[in-house]
Amino acid sequence: PSVWAILPAAGRGARFGGDVPKQYLQIAGQPLIAHALDALLSHPQVAGAMVALAADDRHWPGWTTRHGKPVLRCVGGGERADSVLAALQALPPGPEDSLVMVHDAARPNLHPSDLERLLHAASGDRDGAILAAPVRDTLKRADAEGRIAATEPRAALWRALTPQVFRRGLLTDALLAARADAVQVTDEAMAVERAGLRPRLVEGREDNLKVTTPADRDLAEFLLSQRQR
Ligand code: C5P
Repeated sequence: PSVWAILPAAGRGARFGGDVPKQYLQIAGQPLIAHALDALLSHPQVAGAMVALAADDRHWPGWTTRHGKPVLRCVGGGERADSVLAALQALPPGPEDSLVMVHDAARPNLHPSDLERLLHAASGDRDGAILAAPVRDTLKRADAEGRIAATEPRAALWRALTPQVFRRGLLTDALLAARADAVQVTDEAMAVERAGLRPRLVEGREDNLKVTTPADRDLAEFLLSQRQR
């Protein structure tokens, strides 16, 4: 195993509401983050996981291993990118050109086949690779009054999912550069793109959803219960 998995899990889940941060909601019998961790750690190429937690996190169940692999933790930061950078810097020493894989703690329904295709694509590609899904809906640009200003051609547009896989040194440098330029990157690929690289889009399943609202939680519960039958 040679790929470390990084799970940013230091968000407050403000859009979800509720007392428990969304990564700790019980879904299909275990916390959301456990589903995300298990999906990653069950791949034979994955060496272990580094979880970035909020400094005041009181809900982390304290796992130190799962699937016989190490689960390490560190303190995340104010933005997602800060949490990922903190996790990169807390990893055990390893080659700069080894792969790291970043996956939202809030995505419980990653399928093994998607992970396998992603890692396969990333292994021979110095620019890295991400799971993504083609946009299916017609896209409207809004004006300030909430009226349609334009219809955007969707043919070349994709939704960025996770995991996203990059060389460790490249991703660290790209995130440091974005921070130095005070640019807020909303995924890892955006930082790498700013460095002039062109990560590969690997088409993933539509049901790799990020739990953001209570309706997403219900949908995730349904999807995971279907898989366990
Ligand atoms: O809020 P959103 O759903 O975009 O968060 C995506 C992931 O990034 C979540 O797993 C969340 O916990 C994580 N995150 C983080 N540190 C932050 C903000 C978000 O680790 N400061």
